[in-house]
Amino acid sequence: MDNDTNVTWHESSVSREMRERKNGHKGCVVWFTGLSGSGKSTVANTLDHRLHQAGRQSVVLDGDNVRHGLNAGPGMLNETHGDEFAKRFGLGFSATDREENIRRIGAVAEIFTQTGVIALTAFISPYRIDRDKVRNTLKEGEFIEVFVDAPIEVCEQRDPKGLYKKARAGEIKGFTGIDDPYEEPVAPELILLAAEKTPDILADEVISFLQNKGIL
Ligand SMILES: Nc1ncnc2c1ncn2[C@@H]1O[C@H](COP(=O)(O)OP(=O)(O)O)[C@@H](O)[C@H]1O
Ligand SMILES: [Mg+2]
Repeated sequence: MDNDTNVTWHESSVSREMRERKNGHKGCVVWFTGLSGSGKSTVANTLDHRLHQAGRQSVVLDGDNVRHGLNAGPGMLNETHGDEFAKRFGLGFSATDREENIRRIGAVAEIFTQTGVIALTAFISPYRIDRDKVRNTLKEGEFIEVFVDAPIEVCEQRDPKGLYKKARAGEIKGFTGIDDPYEEPVAPELILLAAEKTPDILADEVISFLQNKGIL
């Protein structure tokens, strides 16, 4: 493949071990998945804050933020790049676009992992196969799938962005949990009962997991 594309891998002269030694912990991806409104962003940010305060290197990749930049959709991209460009490279919410969204985020999260950072990702990531593909780009133990489990009734009740309301009214098509599937993880590393516990307690559960696995 390298010969076909004339692209070859360039080894870094700063090894991962050197970076991890400096950081005092290992790099990994904590992949939060769950329905819109289940609490992914809240728990990821609570955890990020806690890790930061403890002197750890972490970063949050969050759904909406990534769709403003790296994976901007046609709605934003054509303002700066024109309609043709947006049509070709902008990402929306079709199954293929969701797949590409997750693939790019997975690639970014992998770079963070390689640099010894704890990457916290907060994306609905509704399709099992897309999450598994990211898992497969990482080594055993580096991909920590965390199912943020809250019943759809609770998520719909919370609805801080009014998205469920719009989806019910037919103003948003292909909304996960309403008229698009959410495929629950089969064997996640962690399940957070997000309708029953506070974000602080849930962040604690992730920290305990990371400690037990020797990442922290
Ligand atoms: N564990 C929790 N208990 C109660 N409310 C929560 C909890 N986690 C998040 N929330 C609230 O639920 C709403 C959705 O949370 P958010 O983190 O934005 O969800 P997501 O990122 O999964 O869409 C917010 O209003 C947030 O304050
Ligand atoms: Mg969110």
